[in-house]
Amino acid sequence: KVKNPVATDLYFKEAKHVILTAGESVRNEIFQKKIIHTKENFTDLVTNVDREVESYLIKHLIKLIPDSHLVTEETNATNAIAFDQQPYTWVIDPIDGTMNFVHHFPRYAISVALYHYNDIVFGLTLDIVNNILYSAIKGQGAYMNDTLIHTSTIDSLKHSLIAYGIPSAEWRATSRSKQILFSLFGECQGIRNSGSSCLDLAFVATGQLDGFWHYHLKPWDVAVGILLVEEAGGICTNFNHQISNLKDDWIIASNKPIYDEFISHIRSAADVK
Ligand code: IPD
Ligand code: CA
Ligand code: CA
Ligand code: CA
Repeated sequence: KVKNPVATDLYFKEAKHVILTAGESVRNEIFQKKIIHTKENFTDLVTNVDREVESYLIKHLIKLIPDSHLVTEETNATNAIAFDQQPYTWVIDPIDGTMNFVHHFPRYAISVALYHYNDIVFGLTLDIVNNILYSAIKGQGAYMNDTLIHTSTIDSLKHSLIAYGIPSAEWRATSRSKQILFSLFGECQGIRNSGSSCLDLAFVATGQLDGFWHYHLKPWDVAVGILLVEEAGGICTNFNHQISNLKDDWIIASNKPIYDEFISHIRSAADVK
């Protein structure tokens, strides 16, 4: 579908440069005082750095593809609807894991994906603290810096390390997310909640995690991660075994060997008939 592979390579190279430069500037101000605002509730944070990174990325990526469409968390979130009508769309999370960033917990990332109509062209997730870049061009494999990555070969839930996230709105209520979480204790080797969905998905792609599930994520939380996992040989679907697209708000991602057991476990814990 991508008509001009030369442009894809050029866009990828330039976007890589832009994200690495943004990451370097965030690393330089990690310990500087931040201005922190809350959005919908006391757990929903945004800092001046999120906003600065977003405007830096937009400025440079728009220069690369003039007239491209933007779906970005802090300033163009509502554009997520019907972006498949657009020839080129950048889907951007300026800092994924803002709460970690605020608390100096070293798990946060910048995430940039390019879409051509409905199809992802490439994606980049930068682990800011460690300066590790996870990237994939559709159909060309997934990489951790310059190394080709692959999902793990663990073949049972019992031997798996699984990550998850629960939207804060569900913490106090009885929810499917909690039912799933409680049901997994004792059924897998370990459970983690890193606070950065972009990095969790990258870790499934490298095989450092075997599976990940989360309810209610946004396009900028999953766009790059889905591509990384798929290009690394894994599977990402919604509850109903359908290949994830940006409109599904459940994501279940894993390597191939545990996928059937993992999704069956999740469906039965959440009482999905
Ligand atoms: C958040 C992270 C987190 C997930 C939240 C997201 P943000 O993104 O991905 O892992 O559990 O639901 O909102 O707001 O830090 O970009
Ligand atoms: Ca946020
Ligand atoms: Ca995010
Ligand atoms: Ca964010």
